[in-house]
Amino acid sequence: MLSLSSAIELVQPNRIRFGRGTVGEVGAWLRERAIARVLVVTDVFNAKRVDVLGLDGMVTIAGELAGEPDTADLDRIIALAENVAPEAVVGFGGGSAMDLAKLAAVLPGSGQKLADVVGPERVGRKGAVLVQVPTTAGTGSEVGTRALVTDRATAAKLAVQSLHMLADLAVVDPDVALGMPRAITVATGVDALAHCVEAFTNRKAHPTVDLYALEGIRLVGHWLPRAAIDLDDPEARAGMALASLYGGYCLGPVNTSAGHAVAYPLGTRFHVAHGAANALVFPHTLAFNAPAVADKTALVLTALGLPAASDPDTVFAAAHRWCHDLGCEMRLSAYGVTDKDLPVMAQEAHAIRRLLDNNPRDLTREDILAIYRRAL
Ligand SMILES: [Fe+2]
Repeated sequence: MLSLSSAIELVQPNRIRFGRGTVGEVGAWLRERAIARVLVVTDVFNAKRVDVLGLDGMVTIAGELAGEPDTADLDRIIALAENVAPEAVVGFGGGSAMDLAKLAAVLPGSGQKLADVVGPERVGRKGAVLVQVPTTAGTGSEVGTRALVTDRATAAKLAVQSLHMLADLAVVDPDVALGMPRAITVATGVDALAHCVEAFTNRKAHPTVDLYALEGIRLVGHWLPRAAIDLDDPEARAGMALASLYGGYCLGPVNTSAGHAVAYPLGTRFHVAHGAANALVFPHTLAFNAPAVADKTALVLTALGLPAASDPDTVFAAAHRWCHDLGCEMRLSAYGVTDKDLPVMAQEAHAIRRLLDNNPRDLTREDILAIYRRAL
């Protein structure tokens, strides 16, 4: 683990607006800057309510997104953006829409293609003002510099990271998530939790980020069960929007670790929603890591409102029950995964070094396989 004096770099969007009713300010903010040509990157559901952003002028909506973005989705949006030449790109949706918005703000007209910018800081410039408006409480992508796109050919997640993809304005309006179905509320909420937990127990963990991580875990423990029961509770939505934002603060400087790596093949191979995949994996990696980060694991449990523990069996049982009681699907077989799928999934997860190298305890391919077998 790093010490108090370890180096870290913290970046945030120039401006973050948080609170009920802020979503309608996006249009006015753009008009103040004399921006009239806007591309909204969104999904099928949110495309129907783009009017809440208060935009006028030349608004083009790229709203065909369904599920996690792949290279075909990106190609379509880049082609549209090259045609429209927007002065501003607005990401309006979950992580998928916001990640594609990041790329749509930097790639069109740059001469760079996706393959040129995969990795850290390879993007040449920002071509449009970027506004991010999350509609779920989980991803934290609105405050981040990273975009993930699945390569259709290889099923691998390609990660682009660039300061040019940082939002000029992030608008977090908790009311946007009011009425979101329970399954999405829970899955995205556990994703926010996973961001905080994986940063908190990370090999690169840092006190400046632990602050947000631990408070984010506490917020999820307090508000997610309530948000899952009453889908129209504005206070619970606000608590979760804040938790998601704090999770986003964790992603940039520290990032996730084994939980996300082990969850990725579920998304890329079986199209399990990102949050649902993370919920399924969460108790397994928390318990696996417990011997390496015993004190922090106990703090995770108490922040969630559970009894302190650090022995793997107790940690697993408590975290599994917590996810299960929220209504998360905790079995791989429910998603059509069979025993013969597991070795290739383990191989793929094990290859995600950018995340596994952050994990406080080394995971072999066999360790990952054992986790999948236990979750089958
Ligand atoms: Fe995530």
